[in-house]
Amino acid sequence: MTRQFFVGGNFKLNPTSLTASKSLIDVLNKGDLDPNTEVVIAPPSIYLLSVLDSVRKEVKVAAQNAYFKESGAFTGEISPKQLVDAGIPYVVLGHSERRTIFHETSELVATKTKAAIEAGLKVILCIGETLQEREAGKTAEVCEAQLKAVVDGIKEADWSKIVIAYEPVWAIGTGKVATSAQAQQAHADVRSYLAKAVSTSVANETQILYGGSVTAANCKELAKQQDVDGFLVGGASLKPEFIDIINARR
Ligand code: G3H
Repeated sequence: MTRQFFVGGNFKLNPTSLTASKSLIDVLNKGDLDPNTEVVIAPPSIYLLSVLDSVRKEVKVAAQNAYFKESGAFTGEISPKQLVDAGIPYVVLGHSERRTIFHETSELVATKTKAAIEAGLKVILCIGETLQEREAGKTAEVCEAQLKAVVDGIKEADWSKIVIAYEPVWAIGTGKVATSAQAQQAHADVRSYLAKAVSTSVANETQILYGGSVTAANCKELAKQQDVDGFLVGGASLKPEFIDIINARR
């Protein structure tokens, strides 16, 4: 089956002004984008609505996080219901920065994933191993454990609402991109796990993105890999080269 090429831009805690956010969107609005690529950008929550109003309609918007409760005394959180009501279709969950800096466990990520899907959101679900885990030969095991929590918590049909982003922690923001072979192997292992733990059709249909120091210079080679269905881009999504990454398969 053909999986649509998908490129996400995770702006993280950038930029730091509404003016700079508008300039970023302006570049995207003027770019010549491959119509076969699904593009989703995740600005900081304070800019979500302004981006939603100003970005070209083919580009979808994602929140970088959401809680699992609908409402209540949860200071600082945003709920899936609020995102859906605001017209935001996607949320990024399980990013390694959330797992590491904000101590989110795989169980919490799974609970959030379930709540997001039930509210009507699509989820970009991030997984990935540390350098220590890779060097110990545990990449597949770590990714499986992170996915298992989600597998255990949702129905098979819910997988049509999930895009997986494989992001080795050692490659995030370091300039050390995974080789095409390393990315392909990890993606193939994730797909085998989905086939075993969920179903062959879910394994074949789920888009698996690579994230970690993707640039205009390295994206084309990575995009040729059979199981690499796109990218989740951090730093380079803030630069004009994001357009080249969107067009990696052109
Ligand atoms: O979500 C995106 C990833 O963390 C990759 O970030 O492209 O800056 O390495 P990066």
